[in-house]
Amino acid sequence: MGIIEKYRKYLPVTDDTPVISLEEGNTPLIKADPIAEKIGEGYNVWLKYEGLNPTGSFKDRGMTMAVSKALEEGSRAIACASTGNTSASAAAYAVRAGMKCVVVIPEGNIAFGKLAQALIHGARVVPIKGNFDDALDIVKELTEKYPVTLVNSLNPFRIEGQKSGAFEICDRLGKAPDYHALPVGNAGNITAYWKGYTEYRDDGKIDTLPKMLGFQAAGACPIVTGKRVEKPETLATAIRIGNPASWKQAEKARDSSEGLIDMVTDDEIVGAYKFLASKVGVFAEPASAASVAGIFKKANEGYFPVPAPGQGKKDIVCVLTGHGLKDPDRAIKCIENPKLLMPILKRLSELREYDPGKRSDEVYSSCARRYGGPAA
Ligand code: F0G
Repeated sequence: MGIIEKYRKYLPVTDDTPVISLEEGNTPLIKADPIAEKIGEGYNVWLKYEGLNPTGSFKDRGMTMAVSKALEEGSRAIACASTGNTSASAAAYAVRAGMKCVVVIPEGNIAFGKLAQALIHGARVVPIKGNFDDALDIVKELTEKYPVTLVNSLNPFRIEGQKSGAFEICDRLGKAPDYHALPVGNAGNITAYWKGYTEYRDDGKIDTLPKMLGFQAAGACPIVTGKRVEKPETLATAIRIGNPASWKQAEKARDSSEGLIDMVTDDEIVGAYKFLASKVGVFAEPASAASVAGIFKKANEGYFPVPAPGQGKKDIVCVLTGHGLKDPDRAIKCIENPKLLMPILKRLSELREYDPGKRSDEVYSSCARRYGGPAA
């Protein structure tokens, strides 16, 4: 069941709305003790693994709504600017709805997996010399002049769909978390999660609200500095944005929740990215790791107080917004290339010489001797 069917009561749909779905949502909330250990005493850390949505990112929650409503309104085409994930999602849902899809992307700055998705789903991909903010300006003009529906998070139905992430977290924990950490780019997701939490509170489903902790990349952190960034730069290309569309709403979420929006450096992002993969077993794309990098940073600054005795553990949820496979190049750049071992070995059963005490070059040499390969 997709998010529209599951949370119909909270969404602006009627029986006449055609539901365009790829069974998005219902993503796992994974307990991450290796992260909790680094945060300090008295904390649980949970990862909302949005990489397991149908197109590999949280965008699908919003896209099912935006595309369903576009179709209901009689639209035949959708368009978006994107750092990659929105375009991948829009392209897939457009196929599902039988609509055309145009995506405008900053040339050279979108991860390979995302570009592959938009192309294989048959979207019209328009790369521009410029960044995401320039692409968004172009798409806004395009959708004002032509009968094409904008499906960036400026489209209110995107926010409506994405708030379902907050519902799922509360349904799973039986309450709201104490802290909710997430990466911030165009600031739609922080807006959506805050809306979801407040609506669930107003409906009596939860009693408390989390503090919202948003993290931008240091080279693209306009909300932190209060100044638009003309040339945003970060290896976390998904959040390489200098003028977020939902800037004001993000500030509202931060202030109403008594949370914060801070920045993390690329080194901190890569550190968290590798930690997630190698210590937790979860592969998320670099931008997603900004949420974990952020809570590591805040823990080092002493931000998370030790809960008073008898208070029980506090819960931190980090949203991992996209799958690691979206950006395989980054993973390969971050690891040491494996050495080619025993290239002449043809079957595992030929590993008779194997002795865990032996160095790989010794194993190689003995195999080479047997099979007549070149010496190591
Ligand atoms: N994480 C990932 C993996 C993203 O793709 C994005 C945004 C964000 C975080 C930030 O979310 O914009 O709601 O604050 N990607 C957009 C795109 C901009 O075009 O795919 P946000």
